[in-house]
Amino acid sequence: MTRLTVNNEAIQYRLPPDTPLLWALRDASNLTGTKYGCGSGSCGACTVDIDGRAVRSCQVTLGEIEGAFVTTIEGLSRERAHPVQLALIAEGVPQCGYCIPGIVMAAAALLKRDPSPSEDAVAAAITNICRCGIYPRLTGAIQRAG
Ligand code: FES
Repeated sequence: MTRLTVNNEAIQYRLPPDTPLLWALRDASNLTGTKYGCGSGSCGACTVDIDGRAVRSCQVTLGEIEGAFVTTIEGLSRERAHPVQLALIAEGVPQCGYCIPGIVMAAAALLKRDPSPSEDAVAAAITNICRCGIYPRLTGAIQRAG
């Protein structure tokens, strides 16, 4: 059993400790805003916040994060849209939208530690893959959100 706090709610997962957090969130908690893309840590679609850091949840097992505080896209924007989400909309960034939850989680973590990130800082922090090619608009939107 693994105890976590997910979106401010205490949860006990009765799953094998080698279960990736991604699948606990999606299958056991029905938090399907966290997406599966590659399963190998490359795409970032599964990004969540763990104890204040943007982490690819397909690469973290339940057994590795006992007691952690996890925030998913549902928790980030439960009461109102996050400034990153509003900026992405204002700049017309999303296309198919599949990668957007992971990008929002990564950008929110970046802006928490650097509210005025340079283009280089955005490029270094947001390594998520988007097949629609939103990158040129994305950087400006993240800087606007800051
Ligand atoms: Fe986790 Fe791609 S699904 S990085």
